[in-house]
Amino acid sequence: MTQTPLTLVGDGIENPLNARTMLHAAAMFNSPCRFRDRCNLAAAWTETVSGHSPLPLVFRDELVNHYSPIVAFDNLDGAESVYGFRLGSGTAPAVVLGNERRGLADDIERIAHHRVQIPMVSRKLNCLNVAAAAAVALYYLSRGGGGKLASRSQPNKRRPELLLMGATDHVELGSTVRSAGAFGWGRTFIDDRRGVWFGRDRRTVAEGRAAARQRRNPIRIVPMPQGRKYAFSEACVVTLGSGGGVPLHQADLARGASQVVVVPDHTAIDIDREDWNRIAREVRLVRLSVPGKDFSYHYRLIATIVLAEVARQVGRQARPDRGRAVRHGPLYDHSLKLLSDDQGETVFMEDLDSY
Ligand SMILES: C[S@@+](CC[C@H](N)C(=O)[O-])C[C@H]1O[C@@H](n2cnc3c(N)ncnc32)[C@H](O)[C@@H]1O
Repeated sequence: MTQTPLTLVGDGIENPLNARTMLHAAAMFNSPCRFRDRCNLAAAWTETVSGHSPLPLVFRDELVNHYSPIVAFDNLDGAESVYGFRLGSGTAPAVVLGNERRGLADDIERIAHHRVQIPMVSRKLNCLNVAAAAAVALYYLSRGGGGKLASRSQPNKRRPELLLMGATDHVELGSTVRSAGAFGWGRTFIDDRRGVWFGRDRRTVAEGRAAARQRRNPIRIVPMPQGRKYAFSEACVVTLGSGGGVPLHQADLARGASQVVVVPDHTAIDIDREDWNRIAREVRLVRLSVPGKDFSYHYRLIATIVLAEVARQVGRQARPDRGRAVRHGPLYDHSLKLLSDDQGETVFMEDLDSY
């Protein structure tokens, strides 16, 4: 019995740019990618993403007759955690992700053999961008299991700081900030050397909307200017492919706030030429490997896989806190001193919905 690779299926995707990013996510894992068109995606695809090959389609009957096992991948009640999930046997596995606003259709849930989700921490924003979720699904499902979500008495004490470095596109960065918020970070540092985040227009619009709606549950965006010194004890810098370092799943990425996990945009940052010691005393490279060789790079896909693995290691509360608000731990002392004159920006979860 030969096993075909895991197929990625988009069910009712509306935005052709999300569909294109899902195709790119699939290419990272050498997976086929197809779409069940419930929302006129094929027409929007032809209008928007011109110059590309036709959208690869799949129909429900085809899914039922030719694919097994089928995984309904959504934040559904009672769905199993993707961490440690084993797909089991079957000749043509498929993982199906749903519409950007409404999720999976009921008929997909009915034909699915498994219901699987990525555990989220935020109560305000309980889902990721669909393409980012697809990358996480393919990463864990194609690895055939792996570690389970850690269970800890004080997971937030294990949460490292996060530095998003050098992103070249505001949608990719916005989507990554959304992932960080959904995975429970209350704050992220941004090295915005390309000026895609703190550009005046976007900032004014986002802050205006947030203030007008008096939103809660924000994520703090703290600028980390190039050349400034910081005093973290350890920086874990994510490399891609042959970039070297400890494999992502073997690296200890839950050492708390004295550790900073750095996710550089690999299309813009030359890891060998950065002065990492201006950020931390110890520097460790952490390698994300994907089987695909020829794929279009998306910062949100790489970053969200990394955040998912850090979130797995940080874990969840062993004893539920009965609804009490969990306060974010203090900034690492030395870093705090060095950061005190940075204003930053507060972004509200609901304003990240569109990313
Ligand atoms: C933006 S989500 C919206 C749907 C979601 N059910 C909701 O709460 O409204 C779009 C799709 O991304 C995927 N997705 C996003 N976050 C996920 C998570 N935490 N676990 C599994 N799938 C997720 C699912 O396939 C989902 O249908």
